[in-house]
Amino acid sequence: MTDDLLARHRAVLPSWMPLYYAEPIELVSGSGRRVTDAQGRSYLDFFGGVLTNMIGYDIPEIREAVERQLATGVVHTSTLYLIRQQVELAEKIAQRSGIPDARVFFTNSGTEANEAALLVATNHRRSHQILAVRNSYHGRSYAAMGVTGNRNWSASGLNPLQVAWLHSGDRVRGLLARLSADEQVDAAVEDLREVLATQTAGDVAALIAEPIQGVGGFVHPPDGLFAGWKKVLDEHGILFIADEVQTGWGRTGEHFWGYQAHGVTPDLLTFAKGIGNGFALAGVVGRAEVLESVPAISFSTFGGNPISTAAGNAVLDYLIAHDLQANAARVGAILADGLRAAVGGLDCVAEVRGKGLMLGVEFVRPGGSEPDPALTNRVFEAARDGGLLTGKGGLHGNVLRMGPPLTLTEEEAREGLAILVDAIRSAAGVAA
Ligand SMILES: Cc1ncc(COP(=O)(O)O)c(C=O)c1O
Repeated sequence: MTDDLLARHRAVLPSWMPLYYAEPIELVSGSGRRVTDAQGRSYLDFFGGVLTNMIGYDIPEIREAVERQLATGVVHTSTLYLIRQQVELAEKIAQRSGIPDARVFFTNSGTEANEAALLVATNHRRSHQILAVRNSYHGRSYAAMGVTGNRNWSASGLNPLQVAWLHSGDRVRGLLARLSADEQVDAAVEDLREVLATQTAGDVAALIAEPIQGVGGFVHPPDGLFAGWKKVLDEHGILFIADEVQTGWGRTGEHFWGYQAHGVTPDLLTFAKGIGNGFALAGVVGRAEVLESVPAISFSTFGGNPISTAAGNAVLDYLIAHDLQANAARVGAILADGLRAAVGGLDCVAEVRGKGLMLGVEFVRPGGSEPDPALTNRVFEAARDGGLLTGKGGLHGNVLRMGPPLTLTEEEAREGLAILVDAIRSAAGVAA
């Protein structure tokens, strides 16, 4: 019984690890884009375990690749030995990264990937000064929390880095919100120059940024802003780290990586979540000159292990063979256009935003920009009642987040859209 499991969960797991829904659910099986809970209720999944079940559930090609590895009897060897699957996946990621002469280091989580990126950047530049973006989320280690610009996710003020903060691309509130896209880019670049001149000792190691802020509620800057920033960074030799943990692998539809919307190439790129389709797989890819900046032995016991990298190879091969980036663009447009047409004009909806299959709806009190997390929660619960799983996010908890598997079909997109629109209208008290 889920009730019993909930009590047992609460008795042994920490309360700061939240559970979704007033009545939390246990997902016991899944197939394609659908999951079933312990009560036998089926849901269309528009959140994919936080954008991690990127291909969907129970995909034969991925299951079989993992089963083949299991059948060898080798689940783990440590990276002290050659691992064929690790080398093959590194070759593919290096080639796809867009980064010249790339090296790849595998980790188990996005946090560790960012930690590794920050390690090599600070060593390479011999500086612990970092530029980060307000409203960001980069993970739960001290350095990753240190570059996280969201109070709700910053559990400690201890920080191994010295961080200066840049404006996010927030279009609803904040100093740059009311500017046009071009004005916003100019203002953000001017702000970067001012931050460098006033809040740093000049020799900054790196800027770390998410192309679309995941936890931050899918806030993103106008295309090209990173290019404006990069021009200034290059004047100082400052490295650029793209955190592609949520935006990578074609999810944005228009590009394979989120950074490509800006016409720049990062020095380091971090990935996690979707590449393992549920298996613990993450890492950092970067220019050899930068990634080699580790003047001691550094290794991860489980990073790049045969099971995770077998899954990763199968995921990447599947993604490319089925051109899921194009699917994300096509099916994402159905969702985005449908949401904009049906609810974009409601006075409780501040913005429908995002790209491809990474879409958010921000809810506010009518007539202004005051966040409405209570309404967001009602929509969230109503969607679940209607048979659709979604996510929540944003600095104020007032953004509904959709990040379905990239295999989502047009039919499923329309089905989910209808549930979403009903949920929003009923929670907002708007007649159908
Ligand atoms: C953009 C981004 N970076 C890093 C992380 C941390 O990844 P992990 O939870 O695998 O440590 C997350 C997790 O949500 C994320 O969204």
